Amino acid sequence: MTGRFAGRVAIITGGGKGIGAGCATVFCQEGGRVAILDRDVLAGELTAERLTAAGPGMAVSFPCDICDSETFCRIIDDVAVRWGRIDCLINNAGIHPPATTIDDTSLEMVEQVMRVNYLSTFAGAKFAVPHLRKTKGTIVNISSMTAVLGQDRSSAYASSKAAQVGLTKSLAIELGPQGIRVNAILPSNIDTPLMHEWAATLDDPQSALARVAALQVFGRMGTPEEIGRIALFLATEDSSFITGQAIEAEGGASLDY
Ligand SMILES: NC(=O)c1ccc[n+]([C@@H]2O[C@H](COP(=O)([O-])OP(=O)(O)OC[C@H]3O[C@@H](n4cnc5c(N)ncnc54)[C@H](O)[C@@H]3O)[C@@H](O)[C@H]2O)c1
Repeated sequence: MTGRFAGRVAIITGGGKGIGAGCATVFCQEGGRVAILDRDVLAGELTAERLTAAGPGMAVSFPCDICDSETFCRIIDDVAVRWGRIDCLINNAGIHPPATTIDDTSLEMVEQVMRVNYLSTFAGAKFAVPHLRKTKGTIVNISSMTAVLGQDRSSAYASSKAAQVGLTKSLAIELGPQGIRVNAILPSNIDTPLMHEWAATLDDPQSALARVAALQVFGRMGTPEEIGRIALFLATEDSSFITGQAIEAEGGASLDY
């Protein structure tokens, strides 16, 4: 089989929809085998079926809530047994609570956001590293531009995304000598179900989406596949001298202040 990821295996959390599905699409198009770990069982299965039918790679859905660390760890080990290797882990699954002031943000909410967005990223890396040592593989963490820019009434979310960047840099130092590269992608605004769910919480969703699209210099949001192509670059030898980086995939949104 040909393709830039042919013969290799990726695990993608939250691969059923949005950015995760965009990554899965690109990795399958490049001949890879992809394990989609998603708590939305139907979305995971539909995406896996669609990608396998399109080829040349294939995808299999593994129902998994990544907050259930025992199941998360078992599935990572199962994938390694099933396909004999793991070359890349994409820690993508994440949540964004509705905009909330610090006064109205409960500590339980902070804990939940940190658990999904940060602790599961840590757990995924911890569980995958024994397998990645064998392939000299890579970890790609999907963070956010909010990690460096902040976001109004989103302090729990933005700090969970900043924590992913700190983890990325520290693991890059620790694991680099063992041949494992670790990088993060920081998207600005990407057209995904999460984006539409966020807009739906506002008074005028359509104008909110138009406002968000206008933030990028291209006047549009990014697509999940555009993030997937950056993830593929970070997962292959094309980026062999890059580790510990927070790649700002933001369509120029932070320029011209
Ligand atoms: N969409 C954007 O504009 C944007 C911008 C910056 C960063 N991000 C980040 O990208 C990542 C993906 O976002 P998206 O917009 O594609 O979201 P999305 O909601 O459209 O898709 C996320 C997927 O993750 C799954 N998921 C969520 N929690 C899970 C859990 N506990 N266990 C297993 N699966 C779970 C969902 O079922 C869904 O399929 C998130 O980490 C998000 O913070 C998104």
